[in-house]
Amino acid sequence: MKNLKTALITGANQGIGFETARELGAMGFTVLIGARNEDRGKKAEEELLKEGINARFVLLDVTKQYTINEAAALVNKAYGSLDILINNAGIAVEKGRQPSQLEMDDLKKTFETNFFGLFEVTKVFLPLLMKSSAGRIVNVSSGRGSFANNMKPVDKSLNALAYNSSKAAVNMLTLTFSKELEGSKIKINSAAPGYTITALNDFKGLKTAKQAAHIIIKLATLEENGTVPW
Ligand SMILES: NC(=O)c1ccc[n+]([C@@H]2O[C@H](COP(=O)([O-])OP(=O)(O)OC[C@H]3O[C@@H](n4cnc5c(N)ncnc54)[C@H](OP(=O)(O)O)[C@@H]3O)[C@@H](O)[C@H]2O)c1
Repeated sequence: MKNLKTALITGANQGIGFETARELGAMGFTVLIGARNEDRGKKAEEELLKEGINARFVLLDVTKQYTINEAAALVNKAYGSLDILINNAGIAVEKGRQPSQLEMDDLKKTFETNFFGLFEVTKVFLPLLMKSSAGRIVNVSSGRGSFANNMKPVDKSLNALAYNSSKAAVNMLTLTFSKELEGSKIKINSAAPGYTITALNDFKGLKTAKQAAHIIIKLATLEENGTVPW
């Protein structure tokens, strides 16, 4: 997309977030590698810098308000605006456990990261996205957040109350923000990257992280009329 320069990806030190950063970086974006752990974030930054990508580690734990505020202050000072926000950070704690086997803490932890954290990052970065000529927000959701998918017969291991409900909540967040942002230059979408080989699911899956990043990149670079520019 013309004139767009900066992209922040949360949870970008590995998996789908890392590959999304790599792809956007190869397209010419300055990629801000949001990571909750400094060592892991810097390692990812280093790897991308070696590939010639303009990457910069930004400390960002989506469950820690001060890191969100400090990250936004850093982006404001260095760039003055943000063009793309990819809310990618996520956890899955069930590991096959059924709803009645969960503790309240499992639900709380999952929502802290997958939903409340995503909300707070979106809210705090919105003013910077508003300053872009065409801000784009992509919320990395999941097919497991779809009511229709959950009504189909599935393997019990996918019957994950905390994870699935947190992603359903993400989809509703996307819809409600999209209504609020109607008429603005910002587009906000949820992406379902598909069953992907990453740490989140113990490296099981049907897609590589690079393949999974594809839909996220598409939604992050939508043209004004909603079409994909490439
Ligand atoms: N893999 C799949 O099949 C699949 C399918 C659909 C959707 N998704 C979604 O895709 C997204 C990326 O997941 P992935 O599969 O790439 O898994 P992953 O490799 O485990 O990556 C998750 C990333 O989120 C980060 N993270 C976790 N909690 C965080 C927090 N509080 N603050 C900041 N970062 C945090 C992790 O950081 P650490 O390295 O420090 O733990 C890691 O960088 C998630 O939202 C997931 O729900 C995955």
